[in-house]
Amino acid sequence: MHQHKLGVNIDHVATLRQARGTKYPDPVFAALIAEQAGASNITLHIREDRRHAQERDLELLKKTISIKVNLEMAPTADLKRIALQYRPTSCTLVPEKRHEVTTEGGMDLLGGGYPGLKKYVADLKKAGIEVSLFIDPDDRQVTAAAKLGAQAVEFNSGRYAEAESEEKAAFEAEKIRQAAVFALSNGLKAHVGHGINYHNVRPLVELGLLEEFNIGHAIVARAVMVGFERSVKEMRALLA
Ligand code: PXP
Repeated sequence: MHQHKLGVNIDHVATLRQARGTKYPDPVFAALIAEQAGASNITLHIREDRRHAQERDLELLKKTISIKVNLEMAPTADLKRIALQYRPTSCTLVPEKRHEVTTEGGMDLLGGGYPGLKKYVADLKKAGIEVSLFIDPDDRQVTAAAKLGAQAVEFNSGRYAEAESEEKAAFEAEKIRQAAVFALSNGLKAHVGHGINYHNVRPLVELGLLEEFNIGHAIVARAVMVGFERSVKEMRALLA
């Protein structure tokens, strides 16, 4: 049984900040709270359009937090420059379509869509960065990830999270279990992320195979709700 590590994705704290162009809420402040609360790593996704996390966030995270920093990014030249400049602990490579609301699926490592990826992975590793590839739970993708030199894979739990029945969820969890076993037997670490929330996390934990859980939207959404009463009361006190 693995120790399950929580990676907190702070992108949506940045989303709130970007919505108004204010200095707050600062995702770096949120990262420090997550660290205090026992998170094992902080994940942020710098997107091509910079719609949430900014280069400045990565720079400050590296200077402030003691836990690991995981940079999610599309394998572009621009992001490689940023990764090599700031040296996060790890990079999780993801596909990116500019207009998607969130990452919609894993990287397809089989279709020849990523020429030069082996060198890209090697260059990050040479800089001491651990490389993880975000893929769907499929043995062929795991084999391809191993061949590319990745040290970890992050399984896309999006299909699991979106399952509309318990049977479908169990089917998707089983796919993740099988792919995780296969990844571990290939010497890869097995991580998981996307769409995980307070209601669907448990069956994935019970697989006992997944080392790291990267969770963002549900945690930020819950923070709004559990913190709302206090924030209203604080404002009301200022009006008294
Ligand atoms: N892991 C990866 C690779 C992602 O792209 C995302 C979303 O940015 C997450 C984890 C976190 O997903 P969520 O915000 O749905 O928890």
